[in-house]
Amino acid sequence: MTRLFEPLTLRELRLPNRIAVSPMCQYSAQGGMANDWHLVHLGSRAVGGAGLVIVEATAVVPEGRISPQDLGIWSDAHVEPLRRITRFIEAQGAFAGIQLAHAGRKASTWQPWLGKHGSVPLAEGGWRPVGPSPIAFDPQHAVPMELDQTDIAEVIQAFVTAAERSLAAGFKVAEVHAAHGYLLHQFLSPLSNRREDAYGGSFDNRIRLLLEVAQAVRQVWPEELPLFVRLSATDWVQDGWNPDETVELARRLKGLGVDLIDVSSGGTAANAEIPVGPGYQTQFAERVRREANVATGTVGMITEAVQAEHILRTGQADLILLARELLRDPYWPLHAADYLGDASVPWPAQYVRAAHRNTPIRDVPWLPE
Ligand SMILES: Cc1cc2nc3c(=O)[nH]c(=O)nc-3n(C[C@H](O)[C@H](O)[C@H](O)COP(=O)(O)O)c2cc1C
Repeated sequence: MTRLFEPLTLRELRLPNRIAVSPMCQYSAQGGMANDWHLVHLGSRAVGGAGLVIVEATAVVPEGRISPQDLGIWSDAHVEPLRRITRFIEAQGAFAGIQLAHAGRKASTWQPWLGKHGSVPLAEGGWRPVGPSPIAFDPQHAVPMELDQTDIAEVIQAFVTAAERSLAAGFKVAEVHAAHGYLLHQFLSPLSNRREDAYGGSFDNRIRLLLEVAQAVRQVWPEELPLFVRLSATDWVQDGWNPDETVELARRLKGLGVDLIDVSSGGTAANAEIPVGPGYQTQFAERVRREANVATGTVGMITEAVQAEHILRTGQADLILLARELLRDPYWPLHAADYLGDASVPWPAQYVRAAHRNTPIRDVPWLPE
């Protein structure tokens, strides 16, 4: 058996393999509600063999949406359409995760395919974003309103309520989004956090909000189910958030009952130069895994089956998250099993007669139906 298709047990959840659909915003919801697009998009990836399907950044409050078309989970009405999706995913033998998110100063932006950069104006359905400090992401983004301590307490409570609703919707993994320059990352990074109260300044103060969110979510998320946190390991700029801080933060998150750190990078500094290339973020997952002694997920330009298998075999990460490659090919896991020669991976019964890729053509049965 390959490592890629070895089950991964986190608490009492046994994922059937090490392949996860990385959260990907679809910018296709109205009022935060999941719809047929989300069902088919996510459902297809479960049919394709991913063991864990993580739903896109789902806003814990309306003003925490990256765009007006983001998914949300700020009301009970959001639960049932999500439940339909988790039910379908589990029927395929996979599990559903949800990324709980607040975009902070990077909220209220356009659907990316419109080609418009920056904030959606109030007159066109946008809203004034919030953040740790009144510093805009870049000149095209609105200057956020600074959260006061009452607002911060409300943000923590919104993550808790969102986790409770996620459980009701059938999710087995909750992931707190603290990466990519969104609200919780904005608190971590000295570039976006210039506060002078208990939530800004020193390392301990900048990580305080994320630790409070993780602790509060852990209290309502069942003991037997895993909690993930996505971090950006570095801002990729001088004087920004850095990998040493990530390792220390990961240690503390582990101490609070976080089971896996999903290690990404970037997103806070608009001018960062990111050395994008195959597996460019895996080094950070490896470091966190080794030095913080916590399970890690790795993401970022992982496209090949042997590349994923190599990452696992060399102990760099426990879980492989794929984003764009799974958009190109929802059946990537089935093809990977084929390529790696792992015969233990079942094709969906409905598709089993198509599982002949490596069979000599003369042996492929002709099906006259
Ligand atoms: C369409 C799209 C939407 C994305 N939305 C999210 C998101 O909601 N949350 C998140 O943490 N990352 C998001 N990402 C980043 C991916 O999860 C992933 O980290 C990144 O694309 C690198 O992985 P890849 O090289 O496999 O695509 C998104 C990426 C894409 C392409």
